[in-house]
Amino acid sequence: MKIIVLTGAGISAESGVPTFRDSDGLWEGHRVEDVATPQAYDAQPSVVHRFYDARRAALAVVEPNPAHHALARLEEVLGDDLLVVTQNIDDLHERAGSTRVLHMHGELRSALCRACGRRTPWTGDLGGLPPCPHCGASELRPDVVWFGEVPYGMAEIQDALAAADLFVSIGTSGAVYPAAGFVQYAAMHGARTLELNLQPSEGSHYFHEARHGRAGELVPAWVESLVP
Ligand code: APR
Repeated sequence: MKIIVLTGAGISAESGVPTFRDSDGLWEGHRVEDVATPQAYDAQPSVVHRFYDARRAALAVVEPNPAHHALARLEEVLGDDLLVVTQNIDDLHERAGSTRVLHMHGELRSALCRACGRRTPWTGDLGGLPPCPHCGASELRPDVVWFGEVPYGMAEIQDALAAADLFVSIGTSGAVYPAAGFVQYAAMHGARTLELNLQPSEGSHYFHEARHGRAGELVPAWVESLVP
């Protein structure tokens, strides 16, 4: 059975990473346009760097939770038949042991050089405008996909969605496209679809089945039902 799992901020919530659109969400106090668009970066790079430097630093004090671990366990059994596509820019899937992870919105622990286009693993701050290790230009920006930019890996994701027997969406509000449209694309190509989320997402009615509750409980239970 080929499975594609889409994860969003809700899967990391129980690890202590704030979600975006819940009441304690990250956009509170920050207008999206102020931190998550290329225009914001051009206008006020220091504000944008401060925002992402703080989030990158915060990764040091969070750990994967049972939902991340359950998906890593599923990969141990399914191998290449499981792909995790995540909208999250944290590295909690990898730290739990998943290796087949596609970060469609980029990664906090990566820097993208606006001069040479190379991506570099990065754990420190970018606000001090350090030079790119490849070309030397002080043009490193957070390697995250902002509103108005094209997500990473769309061709690979579309192929995986078309080939999947099961599409599972975990911890995402279904508010942001193209990820919000994956359920319909997968179903159109014959996949069964399952939502695991705290509450019905905006696209909950598109799924064949929806279970509502905390990812830290729902995801291990779902994995256990597949691979006891
Ligand atoms: N378990 C399961 N789901 C949860 C939990 C939990 N413990 N806590 C919160 N949720 C759910 C919320 O109910 C909500 O539906 O997770 C969802 C989080 O939604 P968003 O905050 O909108 O996050 P996400 O869907 O990942 O956002 C998509 O928007 O701003 C952009 O690029 C950003 O990747 C992000 C994208």
